[in-house]
Amino acid sequence: MCGIIGYTGPLEARQILLDGLAGLEYRGYDSAGIALCLENSHIALAKKAGKVKNLKEYCDHHITASTHSGIGHTRWATHGGVSDINAHPHRAGKVTLIHNGIIENYHALTEQFHLQNLLVSQTDSEVAAQTLNQLYTGDPLAAIRDLVKLLEGSYSFCIMFDDQPGSIYAVRNVSPLVAAATHSGSLIASDLTALIPYTREYFVVPEQHIVKLTPYKVHVYHMDDTFSKYYPEIMTVNWNMDAAMKNGFPHFMLKEIHEQPEAMRNTILPRVNKGLPDFSDDHIPDSIFKQCDQVQIIACGTAMHAGMVARAIMQPVLRIPIMVSIASEFRYEEPLIDDKSLVIIISQSGETIDTLAALRLAHQCGSTTLAVVNVKGSTIARESDYVLYTHAGPEIAVASTKAYSVQLAALYMISCRMALVRGKYTPQEAYGFLAQLLDVIPAMETLISRKEQIKKTADHIIKSPDAFFIGRGLDYAFSLEGALKLKEISYIHSEAYAAGELKHGTIALISEQVPVIAIATQEHVYAKTISNIREVKARGAFVILLLKENAVVDEDLADIQLRIPEVSDHFTVFPIAVVLQLIAYYASLAKNLDVDQPRNLAKSVTVE
Ligand code: F6R
Repeated sequence: MCGIIGYTGPLEARQILLDGLAGLEYRGYDSAGIALCLENSHIALAKKAGKVKNLKEYCDHHITASTHSGIGHTRWATHGGVSDINAHPHRAGKVTLIHNGIIENYHALTEQFHLQNLLVSQTDSEVAAQTLNQLYTGDPLAAIRDLVKLLEGSYSFCIMFDDQPGSIYAVRNVSPLVAAATHSGSLIASDLTALIPYTREYFVVPEQHIVKLTPYKVHVYHMDDTFSKYYPEIMTVNWNMDAAMKNGFPHFMLKEIHEQPEAMRNTILPRVNKGLPDFSDDHIPDSIFKQCDQVQIIACGTAMHAGMVARAIMQPVLRIPIMVSIASEFRYEEPLIDDKSLVIIISQSGETIDTLAALRLAHQCGSTTLAVVNVKGSTIARESDYVLYTHAGPEIAVASTKAYSVQLAALYMISCRMALVRGKYTPQEAYGFLAQLLDVIPAMETLISRKEQIKKTADHIIKSPDAFFIGRGLDYAFSLEGALKLKEISYIHSEAYAAGELKHGTIALISEQVPVIAIATQEHVYAKTISNIREVKARGAFVILLLKENAVVDEDLADIQLRIPEVSDHFTVFPIAVVLQLIAYYASLAKNLDVDQPRNLAKSVTVE
């Protein structure tokens, strides 16, 4: 979850680290720090609680010497509160270290190495730094290897040793790292966004290998007795710097909402062949769709909500069990999957630790795994049997928007291909399905162009500490995502309810002016949803009704109506998602909150 950057080379390291941290801040933003190797090999350390701008202000006044190597970190606190002391880097003797992840056996290490009186912070990361310092006798590779043998948990470390000026070492287990050697120095980071201002070519640091960065070269070593060299595959970034900038939008979230039509085209069109979905270029064989007797979808948060929509689309057509699990629960559910199961893993980042653990369990059960992932080369993408990349480009706002839409697009295409190869769709039906999927793109554009109308809902929503999202069938699956979006960025308590379930308890919470965002786009349950809306309206709710352009409804049913263009029922999620995202965005804005970096959250959840 934390952001990591390291640089060594001819350029001014301080600026590169601070710029990099500003770009990485979405990964964690409790506190930030940098360590710079000065000319005399002295290490200058700056650590500040709060945002990177606090650190920058401090550095502007206190660190002025020219420097050419250093490491930097933005923190999402796990062990130990948010404070300057707990911020990274941590110093221990000759070791300066930054860490992303969790050291589970930090307590045992503290005892084993008698660190109690040496530790100044409350972090597990400092325990790793102190342990490494005790293991260090002048050979960085040997000390890092010995440290790794002792550690339990997930981690990526960047390390400087006082007596190795200009060199940066790194190692990882699970937590991601990417690195690059460029003409203007060597870089390492938790995330590509920090590298792309300097290079388009990079490699993913392999797990359980040690990386050494020198000003013009990056070496990767196996962690064997002789530290033999490893030559990683060099990858090319397929998006440019503009994609990771706000480009005139006030927030990344609003920009990313606007990017959805293009992201949809980029994800769908390369996989359309003669009007039918075709995954040949993704090297996904039809056999995986034909041979399975059930599908298990696993993901977290918004990605899991995409999975719930997919289930509702797939199951009635495929007529096999389609199950959806929350990744963090999946491992403890004693899941009923085997070598006849197709496991679909959904993850924007491709690094979510619970999702990764579920993927590994699926492999142990002998299942075939197919990942729907946005970040190229991410751990989940590399470990899955097959990958269907979504092409959303970098998603920087913590609240997921465009990644959700393209996950859905990918899942709809999978559903269509499966139906085709299993004989549930004729080619003509599959063709029609795909045509409808493409038709949602202009519908999404229409909604984006109506954002000022959607903005008006914010004034009503923010007056209440609670909000409810209701719907039936697919509309309920959309409601879950609407409630998540609203709560995470506006801090308004929001709950999604299957509209028919309200009467079984939750309706007790409906009182005068409580906002109820009701979604009614599914013809077969429309009348019933309308009855449920009447029930909340009768109890004083402030109803914001989302429905199709031509739907007929009594004027007095809702306080605000937001209409989406006519698309067929199975496809309404795409325009509805835009409406729900904009409702949340404008509510957060109206409360003057930090839309892109809401409290307590981080973009990529790499701790359990
Ligand atoms: C909410 C949100 C999260 C993520 C979840 C999974 O807006 O972004 O709920 O969807 O943390 O992340 P990925 O998709 O990276 O595995």
